[in-house]
Amino acid sequence: MNEKQRVESQQVVAGNLPDKKSEKDFSKYFEAVYAPPSLKDAKKRGKEEVNYHKDFHIAEEFQGLGEGKKFYIRTYGCQMNEHDTEVMAGIFLGLGYAPTDTVNDADVILLNTCAIRENAENKVFGELGHLKTLKKTRPNLLIGVCGCMSQEESVVNKILKTYNQVDMVFGTHNIHRLPNILKEAYMSKEMVLEVWSKEGDVIENLPKVRKGEIKAWVNIMYGCDKFCTYCIVPYTRGKERSRRPEDIIQEVRHLAAQGYKEVTLLGQNVNAYGKDFDDLQYGLGDLMNEISKIDIPRIRFTTSHPRDFDDRLVEVLAQGGNLLDHIHLPVQSGSSEVLKMMARKYDRKRYLELVGKIRTAMPNSSLTTDIIVGFPNETDEQFEETLSLYREVEFDTAYTYIYSPREGTPAAKMEDNIPMEVKKERLQRLNALVNETSAKKMQEYEGKIVEVLVEGESKKNPDVLAGYTDKSKLVNFRGPKSIVGKIIKVKVTKAKTWSLDGELVDETVEEAMGVN
Ligand code: 5AD
Ligand code: SF4
Repeated sequence: MNEKQRVESQQVVAGNLPDKKSEKDFSKYFEAVYAPPSLKDAKKRGKEEVNYHKDFHIAEEFQGLGEGKKFYIRTYGCQMNEHDTEVMAGIFLGLGYAPTDTVNDADVILLNTCAIRENAENKVFGELGHLKTLKKTRPNLLIGVCGCMSQEESVVNKILKTYNQVDMVFGTHNIHRLPNILKEAYMSKEMVLEVWSKEGDVIENLPKVRKGEIKAWVNIMYGCDKFCTYCIVPYTRGKERSRRPEDIIQEVRHLAAQGYKEVTLLGQNVNAYGKDFDDLQYGLGDLMNEISKIDIPRIRFTTSHPRDFDDRLVEVLAQGGNLLDHIHLPVQSGSSEVLKMMARKYDRKRYLELVGKIRTAMPNSSLTTDIIVGFPNETDEQFEETLSLYREVEFDTAYTYIYSPREGTPAAKMEDNIPMEVKKERLQRLNALVNETSAKKMQEYEGKIVEVLVEGESKKNPDVLAGYTDKSKLVNFRGPKSIVGKIIKVKVTKAKTWSLDGELVDETVEEAMGVN
């Protein structure tokens, strides 16, 4: 999108559009005046400089916009979306809205969507169907769709044509414009549409309402330039843009001062951090090194790409302290041929070498991964290579998926001769191996003492407390509520496949410091 179109897109309110029912008029207008999200534009990567905007504030004209009104946000997908929801909640509060966790109470409902697989999208369309009924009984209700799906032209077209109950659609680059979008939606009878296909900027100082007081997410970079052939993310989240180290460090220091015990540094491709700086040789290893000096007991990061996992990062992580040695390292496939088709930029050998390097430097580290089965034309032999890699690495656990074609990606154009039945069977076989390996790994904890960050009551039983170890294992045990938010020692009495049961060691409650 050029600058003129961008300015126009900021101003376009669908209220100026012809009647949606007149399809011909609508398409003509849509093409001529309004720039819809374009995956083609989103694919372009230029050398343009990243602009940092540090002066975000809610303009006076929007103050009080939400007085007496309530908002509800439903979040789908990854941690990045969860964190975007925290930012949007911050903006809503700044506008005077109050939060609610019931749709029936809400004056504004936002669906913060995920586009990674087809079933994620279907859930959103299903939910929009339910909301149509609600909207009929409450015509003043505003319904918005944001997040990754809004960046897809096919989705936006479908919403425009079929989902009249939607009042606002805005993209992942337009979150900071929520006040403008809401105001437009109140003024207009038609849908407000604001999606920028391309964005090169970083907006600092956005307000946030964090979901908890114990663990926090901190974005360190946005976007992805990897363009794995199956993945929609580089199109929906734009080019890689790193936040400046000083801004991140200040945010983490602030969280430490507020008493947070755990911070997860977020990026779609988090270890490409700093690669876009022109004026600075500074990567994730350097950043983690700085953050390790901050008085916060647990620091994690996600999600890393094996290709960008450099020696400096391994060296810094090996220092331990508050840098946790649980590493999520998506492999996607154990076959070098499939990895090549996926454009992952590493092969099986290189992945295994990296695992070796990490395990040599951090013998107690735990590794988890993501795997896709049924990539177009994946053969039985290639799938067997994924199983054999899994056995060789012995991951603690894995997120496993059947390949889902995403319109606009190169893989979606590949002819695929593998029937869905075969793909499902492969997923089942892989999941059986994942479960078996996880159960075995969990068994190793029986009788051992682990350090647990206590998060609160167990979801299943309010008499039991629940928390996570440094390796992200869920531990359930009995203890006083006063230890919520602290890191304590628990002896594991029983291992299950997905959780550990334990008992408090000597009732000794340790202050949350220097875990390793
Ligand atoms: N189909 C299935 N799984 C996918 N992932 C990303 N794109 C697709 C797709 N088109 C998986 C990858 C990634 C995780 C977040 O989602 O395994 O690591
Ligand atoms: Fe998608 Fe991750 Fe590949 Fe980026 S690195 S294209 S987010 S799978």
